[in-house]
Amino acid sequence: MNALPLSTPRLLLRDFTAGDWPAVLAYQRDPRYLRLYEWTERSEADVRDFVNMFIEQQQQRPRTRYQLAVTLKEDGRLIGNCGIRRSTADSHEAEIGYELAPDEWGHGYATEAVRELLRFGFQQLGLHRIAAWTVADNVASARVLEKAGLTLEGRLVDKEQYKGRYWDVLLYGIVGPEP
Ligand SMILES: CC(C)(COP(=O)(O)OP(=O)(O)OC[C@H]1O[C@@H](n2cnc3c(N)ncnc32)[C@H](O)[C@@H]1OP(=O)(O)O)[C@@H](O)C(=O)NCCC(=O)NCCS
Repeated sequence: MNALPLSTPRLLLRDFTAGDWPAVLAYQRDPRYLRLYEWTERSEADVRDFVNMFIEQQQQRPRTRYQLAVTLKEDGRLIGNCGIRRSTADSHEAEIGYELAPDEWGHGYATEAVRELLRFGFQQLGLHRIAAWTVADNVASARVLEKAGLTLEGRLVDKEQYKGRYWDVLLYGIVGPEP
């Protein structure tokens, strides 16, 4: 029923495999990527654990978490990851997330991936509502969510504290079409 990989005009969103970690490490070490995250650095062990967690989630029955490698159709390169997860298999709502290698920003790939996650969530998982969180400083991420049709639902002032300051967090959401 939940047919993977997911396909968009330019991207294949597929399950992670064990050999994917070096490509993830390459971009998660980039200061442009790390700027808005709590992390200040990423080691090989961190990223191996990160990828292994997504691989373990593939064994869940029923599956509640789909954290997928974002790959380019034209050459198969892994350029990021994106995911949709719900707290229980019968939950009516889920949250999405996404990240791309900085060298690939600005080409509309994140928006393309998010639109496909929404389609997958509403059509294949049968969800009613999909939400996303982003720090307010992440203008690109907020823009991706708006372009994909999510609406700003709230702002949590000083919700996070890391890197010597507080961060506002924005909540975005969208309700799906009735079946
Ligand atoms: C957020 C992220 C996924 C966006 O990826 P992307 O493929 O570049 O996104 P898109 O190209 O689909 O859209 C980005 C939009 O933000 C806009 N944008 C980017 N930086 C901006 C800035 N500093 N100010 C205003 N707008 C900005 C772009 O112009 C584009 O909008 P447009 O199509 O109207 O011109 C990417 O920057 C990323 O991986 N960042 C690090 C990880 C991260 O923050 N993940 C999200 C956590 S919530």
